[in-house]
Amino acid sequence: MPESPYLVIDLARVRENYRALRAALPSARIRFAVKASPVSEIIELLAAEGAEFDVASVGEIEQCLGLGVAPERLCYGNPIKKARDIAHAFARGVRRYAFDTEDDLLRIAEHAPGAEVECRFLSAAPQSTTPFGAKFGCTPTDALRLLVRARDLGLRVGGPYFHVGSQQTDPAAWRIGIEQAGRIAEGLADKGIPVASVNIGGGLPISYADRAPGLDVLAPVIADAAAEYLPETAGLVVEPGRALVGSAGTIHAEVIGVRAAPDGRRWIYLDIGRYNGMAETENEYIAYRFRTERDGDPVDEAVVAGPTCDGDDVLYQRTQVLLPTTLRAGDRVQILDTGAYTASYSSVSFNGFPPLTVHVSGAERE
Ligand SMILES: Cc1ncc(COP(=O)(O)O)c(C=O)c1O
Repeated sequence: MPESPYLVIDLARVRENYRALRAALPSARIRFAVKASPVSEIIELLAAEGAEFDVASVGEIEQCLGLGVAPERLCYGNPIKKARDIAHAFARGVRRYAFDTEDDLLRIAEHAPGAEVECRFLSAAPQSTTPFGAKFGCTPTDALRLLVRARDLGLRVGGPYFHVGSQQTDPAAWRIGIEQAGRIAEGLADKGIPVASVNIGGGLPISYADRAPGLDVLAPVIADAAAEYLPETAGLVVEPGRALVGSAGTIHAEVIGVRAAPDGRRWIYLDIGRYNGMAETENEYIAYRFRTERDGDPVDEAVVAGPTCDGDDVLYQRTQVLLPTTLRAGDRVQILDTGAYTASYSSVSFNGFPPLTVHVSGAERE
């Protein structure tokens, strides 16, 4: 058994998740957001399934190309890009880009002439569990103006693009975004510009300690809204990260120590924390489920903390976490549904702890 902590990815589960999404939204192109889990075996598997890839940087572009993914399948989806990175992507064959400012659009026009562009607008969707705030997206009015400008700059117009925020649990979010995208598409049609695609982003949730709506609820909302608000020419693009890989991962960790702290609470220290994989416990946004070898024993509340000497390296102190009262140093703990935004977030060597290692299991090919 490898030394903990480590993450095991079940490839069969990734494939199952991909196929379930394809079946739920059969007309949509599925674009995997590589940042959620840039594991080569996952990229290869999804490429074989026919996925496209949302890449955020030159590093992700090179990783995908190095694995044999054709550049036409990549979309450089990060709206914040240096001119030289756009030029690099273009030289490597990437022909699809997202943007949300005139500045970035001009850089794309200069360094990726003739490329297809999607304009990200900030939708009026309700806040998600791990929100983007106002970091990305222009107003819908600007999206219309900028897509016209894109055409005038000799670029190909993909269409409007929104992301309802990661781990979005309100199905209405997509309906709101699609309606707004539909209005942008209408404005473009008035100017003689057909919309090739509407990118409805990621955000599809998975169930952690709290249950989230499944595809059986979300897919009909998306399909109905698309039928109601989007022109027939516009193909749907969906850009999931978490929904494809989250449930496929399990972190294997170990209890380093248990103590009754001066605050009167039981603190449990694990060998995994905020800096070596559990970044999404920031603000206690994501409430992961734990499984221990003492499950079945009586449980009580616990504060769960990571191994570094950093005061912020506490996973849960407000969220109620119930763990066996018998838990002690050396016990193994599994953290479930940790396939997304864990290993790729872990620091290089904070406090000297190495980044989270990843092992893959399950059938790579069928
Ligand atoms: C541009 C972009 N697309 C898609 C995603 C995937 O989001 P999710 O994992 O919520 O599906 C992200 C996540 O940050 C993103 O930045």
